This record gives sequence, C-alpha cells and structure tokens, in this order.
Amino acid sequence: MKIVDLRSDTVTKPSPEMWEYIKSMGNSRLGDDVMGEDPTVNELEEKAARLIGKEAALFVTSGTQGNLVSLLSQTKPGDEILLEELSHIFLNEVGSAARIGGLMIRTYPSVRGVPSFEYLQSLIRDREEIHEPPSTLLCTENTHNYHGGAIVELDALKKMRDFTNKNDLKFHLDGARLFNAAVGLNVPVTEITKHANSVMFCLSKGLSCPVGSMVAGSKEFISKARRFRKMLGGGMRQAGIIAAFGLIALEPKWINRLADDHKNAKILSQGIENLKLRIKVHPTDTNIVIVELLEKVRILKIITALNKAGILAFNISKEKIRFVTHYGINTDDIDYSIEQIGLILKKVL
Ligand SMILES: Cc1ncc(COP(=O)(O)O)c(C=O)c1O
Repeated sequence: MKIVDLRSDTVTKPSPEMWEYIKSMGNSRLGDDVMGEDPTVNELEEKAARLIGKEAALFVTSGTQGNLVSLLSQTKPGDEILLEELSHIFLNEVGSAARIGGLMIRTYPSVRGVPSFEYLQSLIRDREEIHEPPSTLLCTENTHNYHGGAIVELDALKKMRDFTNKNDLKFHLDGARLFNAAVGLNVPVTEITKHANSVMFCLSKGLSCPVGSMVAGSKEFISKARRFRKMLGGGMRQAGIIAAFGLIALEPKWINRLADDHKNAKILSQGIENLKLRIKVHPTDTNIVIVELLEKVRILKIITALNKAGILAFNISKEKIRFVTHYGINTDDIDYSIEQIGLILKKVL
C-alpha cells in the first residue's frame, strides 16, 4: 500500500549527498567535542554562525535542548518570560522553562504569531515594584508551527525587537523552521535573525538531518549556552559523525529545496479547499497545512480512516488536522493525498 507520511518534517531521512559525505569521512574528521576538538562540529558551528549572522553557534541535540539552553543563558530563576500561547516552548517542551529554569511564564495571544503590542506592553512588570518578578525575555516562533507554518514577517519582527529594546528584554527566536521562513519570504536568513539576541534552528526538520539543532548568538551567550548544554547532558564526544549531515544541509542548494515543500503544501491546501466541504483550510505560507473541521465529528475517526488509506497525519486539536510536506514527498504523493482526503472527508462531513 502507498504510504504518504505527512505527520511531520521530522520523519525525513538523509539525502544521498549526505550519505556520500559521511562515507568519505575518516577518523581525522572526528575528535572529542566536549574538549572542543571535533573538527567537523567546529566547522558546522562556524558555518552556522556565519550563515545566521551571529558571532558564534553551538551544536545541540535537539530543538527542545536548544530552546532551553537559550532561555537558561539569558535569564535567572524567578524571572518572567513572555511566550506566545500556542508556541512549542509553552506547549510542548515539558514545562522545562519552569521546571529547570525556575522561570515564570506569561503567555500572549497572537494573530499567526504576531502579538498586539499594546497587550504585550500590559504584561511587562514594574521593575521597581518589590512584589513583582522582572520580565526579562520575549520569545517568538518563526515559522509558527501551530499557526500552520505561518511566517512572522520582517516588519513584525522589527516591532518585536523595538519592543524588547524599549523594555530592556532579551529576544529569543525559536526558528525550528527558520529557513522555511527565509525561503518563504525570499530574503537572506539574516534579515530575520538580525532582530533576535538568540536563535535556535533545527537541522532535523525540513533540512532532513537525522539529529541536531543549532543555537546562535553572541560569543558571550554561546559560552554560557555551552555550559548549560553540558549541564543538561548534551555534551557529546565524537559528535562530528552526526554534525557532518548538517554541513551538507546548510548548503544553499539544500536550503532552497524547501521551496519544493512549500509548493507541494500549496497544491495540497488548494486541492483540499477545492473539495468545497464544511472545513476551513488555513492560509499556507510554507510547508504546513492545517485543516479545521467546521462540523462536530470525532477527529480521531478521520485520522484512523486516513491512516488506513495510507495518509499519515496528526490532529493538533479536536478540530484541526495538520499535514506537513517535506523531503521525500513528491507531487504524486500530494495528488494521491488530495484524492484520499476527499473520499474520507466526504463520507463524514
Ligand atoms: C516550533 C518548534 N520548536 C521546537 C521544536 C523542538 O524540536 P525537537 O523535536 O528537535 O526537540 C519543534 C519540534 O517539532 C518545533 O516545531
């Protein structure tokens, strides 16, 4: 049976070019990275820092670890941080900011990742008031996963930056899908990252590496982040064997390939829209398509029927199904998915 796995871009496997590079590596390309001696990791960190336009970068095990070391490095226990209410850090990182960082979390609503600045201002604590915790950090997510891969555009990022400057906050960017935003906007990635003090982006999503994420920022920030990574058990030894995938992933050709995923996602969302059913297809900026059911039906019934037809997808709430395009998904897969989704939705709606 044909299987089209649209659950996440994390299911991707490495490209042939990545395997070729790994096979060509010898032991001379490896060393103990905790001692700073792995040449491949060092090269990846330098390449990432250059690309993102920051002084330094750090290879971390996952996006979750990258976000956490970023928060720990820029706050103190007892500080309050501002997170978007549907952000991955708030919803899906096991409350690590509170549990490990001792941070108070305040959430803000948004329109596809963009906050109301008036509302955001109302959340800022009075630093002179001894009863209140200090607000010290604002986070944004770009692209925004639960808002359907929405791109937070450059003018909104600039306003967020101005807001953090005005209120003496640090600004962290969860850019798990940062390059989807850059490719979607057709701008150099630095146009996005220049606004943030710290940036996390994932190698293991649309860039299709098997493991790893990068954190980038000032040298001072990265030296703190390196200590926190160690504290969290993320100091790896001959890590070049996994970092090597990232060297290929950060080549322009591989980054620009994300445009194919965006094109496929557009075809998928248009195809589902054309079914003219009682559903809302959310705007599709990048590689994520969110379909919201406008009738009360058991969503798990639909997910199960889709799975049986070979279309794998997740529901992200009781009403919303998420489809994610990625490396390995082609236009035939998309056509097949539209056909099967149509057959199943027509039966239940
Ligand atoms: C927006 C966002 N941030 C962070 C993460 C965490 O990445 P990881 O799964 O590598 O821990 C994810 C993972 O899906 C994500 O979507």
